[in-house]
Amino acid sequence: MGIMRQNAMPAATAGPGCPVEESFDPLSPEFLADPYAVMASLPGAARPVFFAPSIGYYVVTSYDAVEAVFRDPATYSAAVAQAPLTPIVPEAQQILLAGGYKPQPSMVSLDEPEHARLRKPAARAFSMKRVTAMIPAIEATTARLLDDVGDTAEFDLVAALAFPLPANIVFWMMGVPEQDYAQVKQWCGYRAALSFGRPAAQDQVEIATTMAAYRRYMRDLVDAKAREPGDDLASDLIAIHREAPGRLALDEIASILFSLSFAGHETTTGLIGNTVRRLLEDPGRWAEIVRRPGLIPAAVEESLRYDPSVAVWRRVTTRPVTLAGVDLPAGARLFLWLAAAGRDEAAFSRPGQFDLHRTDAERHLAFGKGLHYCLGANLGKLEAQIAVAELARRYPHLRLAPDQHLTFHPNISFRGPQVLTVRTHP
Ligand code: HEM
Repeated sequence: MGIMRQNAMPAATAGPGCPVEESFDPLSPEFLADPYAVMASLPGAARPVFFAPSIGYYVVTSYDAVEAVFRDPATYSAAVAQAPLTPIVPEAQQILLAGGYKPQPSMVSLDEPEHARLRKPAARAFSMKRVTAMIPAIEATTARLLDDVGDTAEFDLVAALAFPLPANIVFWMMGVPEQDYAQVKQWCGYRAALSFGRPAAQDQVEIATTMAAYRRYMRDLVDAKAREPGDDLASDLIAIHREAPGRLALDEIASILFSLSFAGHETTTGLIGNTVRRLLEDPGRWAEIVRRPGLIPAAVEESLRYDPSVAVWRRVTTRPVTLAGVDLPAGARLFLWLAAAGRDEAAFSRPGQFDLHRTDAERHLAFGKGLHYCLGANLGKLEAQIAVAELARRYPHLRLAPDQHLTFHPNISFRGPQVLTVRTHP
């Protein structure tokens, strides 16, 4: 799918019979501050599907409907998964096209059979065995980052741990040289704005220029690893290419690395930030975690249900179809509201309560479902579990600093506090 198709203007109107929510805007300041308050204020008719003219998308809110979409990839294509939400100005489009941001954006936006060509080799890196072997590196990085915090009375958990931990782990795993980590991290921030935000026309050219450099960097990394292989994913993928060049091209390897560098980073930063926030919101919860660290995996699952770090994912219909009683035309863009699915009363009892002892939290749809199910789910959860375990061990009296006003990056999909100030002493 090329950038031109991604860039088609969204449908301005809903099909007949579909409820319309004129005021729903997922990039408005109210929504970014508290999407759950907006969710609670929606009329009953907004369940399970309504149309949002502000973005030209059908919003899917119920657990069953979101799951049904994920389960039917022939009807619901992934092509718009990372499409720019707002039309891109022609000058920025030129830069993107010249920089190789085409014609196949990346694994997560491809349908079969192209999707499987990239997913199969990439999946080798994410078996439970491979991920378990990464535990010592994740623990050592967590310890090093928290050693830097030391005994300070107050610190920003995001800057100190939630941001650097997943970035360092995924870049190390891929084979990015350490001196380039900061640069790649910066590019990832631009990527969220381009595909999932509403950047102003004058900012788009700068964003496009950095995106082209980011793509080129990944292609150059593949060449560098081909010359001098290391013990990393890039080199493993090049070994597959050498065995059978027709199975995996060097450009495709660059595309996989481009996917992973982003997918393995902001998502997990958000997961760590959201989990710690929710655990500290009630001091009794933190005390329980400190007393019973065995509850930490359940805490991470509950956080993925209650406040997922990927709050929204997208699909587009390939044919006319009826979803939860609403008729959708071909080409209808769907905003799968994963955060709403996790709060669906039909799927979870007392969904508005964060409950460490819930037994069915892991039914959440925070990692998607089906063919595109998140490749890094095990890794991301492990990083969050290790981060919380080490925080609980070092700081049994950890608290949220009072009166802080949380802010969130202005995009529709990736959600976690940008700063989370915590106090280490009672
Ligand atoms: C921990 C928080 C994370 C969350 C909430 C999350 C969420 C998601 C979601 C919602 C999807 C789309 C699924 C679909 O379209 O059906 C996805 C796909 C993907 N994720 Fe994650 N993710 C996380 C961490 C990671 C990590 C750590 C990595 C890798 C290091 C990763 C790599 C991927 C890849 C490669 C895909 C595309 C898979 C495909 O298209 O086949 N994710 N993730």
